[in-house]
Amino acid sequence: PKNVGILGMEMYFPSRCVDQTEMEAFDGVSAGKYTIGLGQQKMAFIDDREDIQSICLTAVQKLMETYKISYNDIGRLEVGTETIIDKSKAVKTVLMTLFAEHGNTEIEGIDTTNACYGGANAFFNAVNWVESSSWDGRYAIVVAGDLALYASGAARPTSGAGVVAVLIGENAPIVVERGLRSTHMEHAYDFYKPDMHSEYPIVDGKFSNTCYIRAFDSCYNRYMNRLAAQSGNEKVSMEDVDYVVCHSPYAKLVNKSFARAAYNDFVRDPENPKFADFKQLAEISYADSLENRDIEKAFMGYTKESYNTKIGPAAFVPKHIGNMYAGAVWAGMASLISEVPSEQLQNKRVLLYAYGSGLAASMISFKIVGNTDDIKAKLNLRERLSKRTASKPEEFAEAMAIREKTHNVKDYNPIGSLDHIASGVYYIDTIDDKWRRFYKRK
Ligand code: ACO
Repeated sequence: PKNVGILGMEMYFPSRCVDQTEMEAFDGVSAGKYTIGLGQQKMAFIDDREDIQSICLTAVQKLMETYKISYNDIGRLEVGTETIIDKSKAVKTVLMTLFAEHGNTEIEGIDTTNACYGGANAFFNAVNWVESSSWDGRYAIVVAGDLALYASGAARPTSGAGVVAVLIGENAPIVVERGLRSTHMEHAYDFYKPDMHSEYPIVDGKFSNTCYIRAFDSCYNRYMNRLAAQSGNEKVSMEDVDYVVCHSPYAKLVNKSFARAAYNDFVRDPENPKFADFKQLAEISYADSLENRDIEKAFMGYTKESYNTKIGPAAFVPKHIGNMYAGAVWAGMASLISEVPSEQLQNKRVLLYAYGSGLAASMISFKIVGNTDDIKAKLNLRERLSKRTASKPEEFAEAMAIREKTHNVKDYNPIGSLDHIASGVYYIDTIDDKWRRFYKRK
């Protein structure tokens, strides 16, 4: 198959959000800490009415409806998530209800979990399938998303919730470039969820940032080495990339990783006249570079303008929703397609960085070879984001408290108001005495 890649995208995020300026006041931190310090605008949240299965049901159902695909035309469905409500039964099996209704029970794929990386792994599985001898000619769907929740404290303002469903097949407008994908994986306790009684992670925030940047460096250099070999041009750099999408735990880290790409370009080609001002930074060892403020400041300054054109469009949507863990990087891709007109994207290269704590990271690139206006129109993100209900920080805190109290319960009817569930959205109707969950669609 030719031009394997992204044919369509649908996104689901909750109807309620809280403003980060109000969160700053509510938490009693200095003004600007969340909005400038973390770079976030709004944070989406849900109560006990929704769970990972309901939000995935909503995203997949909407993808099928907006793209008017036959349920029998799907041959693979992969879920990437770290929101675990069952240690055995995959979210994918619940999504099968949508297809079984139409007589399709032959769909490969199951869930993949490793922090925010599950969606990338699911995506690779789906693309690999289409490119393989196992492919039966049908489409694949990748569903990536999470309820990103943190205990109250420094990490809480980086919460969020959302899921992206991606339609994959041949002759796509957004094509995966072959032979360039790079990966970095290692063992680290930067963010993990060992406590089965809680939805919250154990997180070493500062260390997780360093892990993210270190994995970025590694993936970036491996990617560039492959690009150099493939293109026959030794001096490849960010100049060969038109747009960047990075996993977004919060926008400031995305900004810092973009600056980091420029630092890597400098290390790869220190004599290049464009880096003349940074000569003295070449003395700093790699280990020291990771937390060096002079390097960060120099390259944040250097990339200030290109930030707006190359990565700003992808950063927009995550800024208005918050972290979506496995879904965040795909929300970034949806954001880019929504923010940049199709004609401007033609023949452009998009570099995507996926990171999941623990840790697993990859870089992959896409070429835009077809019209993306239809995907943008169907996503309709600006309008949908603006139509959300602006809630008070107290309501957010209450929703979190409800979830804490009802995590893992059985024989339970959710108390969250159906007023917060938009039309066409799945919600939990009841959980029976055997923990079986029953959903309805509003
Ligand atoms: N105005 C402007 N900026 C401010 C203000 C203010 N009033 N107050 C603080 N800041 C800046 C700080 O200078 C700092 O900037 P810097 O990043 O350039 O140093 C930034 O805001 C953050 O403030 P800190 O006090 O350094 O950090 P904090 O203790 O609030 O924690 C952290 C931030 C670590 C990101 C926390 O939110 C966290 O743990 N998040 C979850 C972990 C995470 O997202 N990791 C990323 C990779 S892994 C993943 O995806 C889960």
